[in-house]
Amino acid sequence: MEVYTLSNGVQIPKIGFGTWQIPEGELAVQSVAYALEAGYRHIDTAQIYGNEASVGQALAQSNLDRQDIFVTTKVWNDKIGVEDTRASLEESMEKLGLDYIDLVLIHWPNPAASREQLPWQERNAQVWKALESLYREGKIKAIGVSNFMIHHLEALLETAEVAPQVNQVMLAPGTPQKDLVAYCQDKGIQLEAYSPFGTGTLFENEEAAKLAREAGLSLAQLALAWSLDKGFVPLPKSTSPENIQANLAIEGLQIDPHAVEVLDKLQGVKGQLDPDQVDF
Ligand SMILES: NC(=O)c1ccc[n+]([C@@H]2O[C@H](COP(=O)([O-])OP(=O)(O)OC[C@H]3O[C@@H](n4cnc5c(N)ncnc54)[C@H](OP(=O)(O)O)[C@@H]3O)[C@@H](O)[C@H]2O)c1
Repeated sequence: MEVYTLSNGVQIPKIGFGTWQIPEGELAVQSVAYALEAGYRHIDTAQIYGNEASVGQALAQSNLDRQDIFVTTKVWNDKIGVEDTRASLEESMEKLGLDYIDLVLIHWPNPAASREQLPWQERNAQVWKALESLYREGKIKAIGVSNFMIHHLEALLETAEVAPQVNQVMLAPGTPQKDLVAYCQDKGIQLEAYSPFGTGTLFENEEAAKLAREAGLSLAQLALAWSLDKGFVPLPKSTSPENIQANLAIEGLQIDPHAVEVLDKLQGVKGQLDPDQVDF
């Protein structure tokens, strides 16, 4: 598995395995186990997905060396201070069966749950302090954010002592988020592309299907090639062994600039939610 190098020198496998909406239990254990067997070395989970223990079980069963696996989790919206964030991450480590986590992200920048209690800028600064402390203690190897737009990043950078190394946002055909991408790339923040297939909505898109046929690729390959061409870390999710395998078979895929342009402007694929308007 090829890697990118984050701004702090940590290496991150170029493709990650997404686990949102894979419920805790047999299906999650099987899917992650199958992904590891197929060759994924990067697993993306979150506290709110409720499947950290299943991810941990699959990791334990895999017998892979710890240093060969890259695991991400995300701090959920109900955490607002240093102590509750730290405690929640101790719990995540226990569920994952890990004594350190490779990457921890603040899941959303402006949670509805804390909107009335304190300004989002303050909440993010507090949660970030907790991440920085665990980072300094070596319990987290890289720290970052998710769903942060430029104004959220600018506010965080006012108080951060360690700059975020990653921003995980919705990046898929139809949602290239060019200004945000340029801003992050300028600051050395690695972009991760969540929902690289628009949570499956891409597979119903006629225009994309036509483009894939013309390029001699599957639709999934076309979307992943688009993502890698832009230097993102795509995080495809699947519970089907066939698709899990297929989403990894993309080495050396080329996409021509015209196809990139058409995909940038694609209509009808699920896009990025406005993080300042979400009701969770
Ligand atoms: N940070 C955030 O706020 C956030 C938000 C959303 C997602 N994420 C992360 O990004 C990951 C991926 O996003 P997502 O879960 O929204 O979905 P996605 O990866 O964009 O799409 C998944 C859908 O595509 C189907 N699929 C996968 N590979 C396929 C293939 N090769 N051919 C045909 N169909 C295929 C899957 O069905 P099968 O399962 O049947 O294959 C599933 O229905 C998440 O799991 C999560 O880790 C993060």
